[in-house]
Amino acid sequence: MILKKFSIMASRKRVFDLLRTINVATCQCPAHAHRGKIQVSNSTPLKDYAFEIKCSTVRYGLGVTREVGLDLVNLGAKNVCVMTDSNLVSLSPVKTVLDSLIKNGINYKIYDKVRVEPTDSSFKDAVKFAKKGNFDSFVAVGGGSVMDTCKAANLYYCDPEADFLDYVNAPVGKGKQVTVQLKPMIAIPTTSGTGSETTGASIFDLEEIHAKTGISHAALRPILAIIDPLHTLSLPEKVSNYSGWDIFCHALESFTAIPYTERGPAPANPALRPTYQGSNPISDVWARFCLQSLQKYFARAVYKPDDIEARSTMHLAATMAGVGIGNAGVHLCHGLAYPIAGNVKTFVPQDYGSDPIIPHGLSVAVTAPAVFRFTAPSDPGKHLEAASLLGADVTGKKQADAGKILSDTILKYMDVMKTENGLSALGYSSDDIPALVKGALPQQRLLQISPLPQSEEDLSKILEESIKIF
Ligand SMILES: NC(=O)c1ccc[n+]([C@@H]2O[C@H](COP(=O)([O-])OP(=O)(O)OC[C@H]3O[C@@H](n4cnc5c(N)ncnc54)[C@H](O)[C@@H]3O)[C@@H](O)[C@H]2O)c1
Ligand SMILES: [Fe+2]
Repeated sequence: MILKKFSIMASRKRVFDLLRTINVATCQCPAHAHRGKIQVSNSTPLKDYAFEIKCSTVRYGLGVTREVGLDLVNLGAKNVCVMTDSNLVSLSPVKTVLDSLIKNGINYKIYDKVRVEPTDSSFKDAVKFAKKGNFDSFVAVGGGSVMDTCKAANLYYCDPEADFLDYVNAPVGKGKQVTVQLKPMIAIPTTSGTGSETTGASIFDLEEIHAKTGISHAALRPILAIIDPLHTLSLPEKVSNYSGWDIFCHALESFTAIPYTERGPAPANPALRPTYQGSNPISDVWARFCLQSLQKYFARAVYKPDDIEARSTMHLAATMAGVGIGNAGVHLCHGLAYPIAGNVKTFVPQDYGSDPIIPHGLSVAVTAPAVFRFTAPSDPGKHLEAASLLGADVTGKKQADAGKILSDTILKYMDVMKTENGLSALGYSSDDIPALVKGALPQQRLLQISPLPQSEEDLSKILEESIKIF
């Protein structure tokens, strides 16, 4: 009996050993690729075979901002740099943060000059403030503009000798890896859009090239994201509208991004795996949640400011989409948006102050109908699924029509959101297209995440189709 049991166990072990041998022999990963008789070259595999998900600790709850003072006590913080913008400084999100800091005996200094849609000069001003402060931690209270400015201030404060372009993404800057230890940063988003509270990205407009670019490294990621839907109750209609489009494009772009197994090469060292890795089963979960949330809540959140259920879900969806993009990435809408926003002429949006700017969410949405018509042949099934998650009836629809169906679905949302009718409504004409294409080309980090490679002619065609979208 014992012998029989032993022999079953032994044969099971043989089966497992055999399976492991087969698995190792067929595995292409660097850890297993040169065992036994299998001849596998030592070169890095052309395509990646792995992805990883990184994100800030996320704490979500109505009124949870009141805990921030205790978080800083727990961190041992003695001197905190609080960053915000000149509008938010007198509104309740900042007041709640300061009350919590005061109650918990935390010393702080406040910087309230963050520029909406920041530039390299506005970043440098914030860095100057940080360098004077001897801070041991940072708290950002605001939208993407505030959180991104705070990340950059933290970075250059911790590496005071660095030249500004050292850390800016290549080829615009040197794309240097961050090896200095940054101070802990807590992010408290007040818009429902960018997801910057979970990402290592800091985006700004580099004035000399009239295009947005950024700094992107995991070290910039806040250690804690405090997601408090109460802050969204003061969001003006247009900020809610345009930042909702940012969630929309984050979800659609990360869902349709090149699959991570198609992006390459695999890094020689896991530390070098890029932040934007392509679509993967985990970021797809975030994207699906967001697309369904948008179907149910986007219009309600924009047009019913006190609909706490709608605004709360949109706030959570923004963070979820942030985790998706922070790991899968975004592609053509964002790549094209950077020169669209950077070359702004006279467009002054409602609810964003008096300077000409094209709010980020609007700049990404404006090419979306044309972008997804272009990318649909890469995976018609996934484009149809996205349309369905956004509310379209796709029963019996042909794969060949996936691009048109998704694009028509986006246009229906644009109708409800009263979105401006294309690039022409933002001050551009066909004559501007060569400059916009030129501005998009340096965004290779994003363009490479597109599920289809694209020529300059393809980008021109997408922009041409976006001059008027209805
Ligand atoms: N780092 C990332 O991962 C990432 C991702 C997407 C976008 N971005 C960047 O984020 C920036 C846009 O950020 P945004 O869309 O969050 O807007 P924003 O930070 O530019 O703010 C827009 C306006 O809304 C106001 N506002 C914000 N919250 C408010 C509230 N609760 N009540 C009343 N007014 C409020 C602000 O004062 C400002 O006037 C762009 O520069 C964009 O490029 C960054
Ligand atoms: Fe975005």
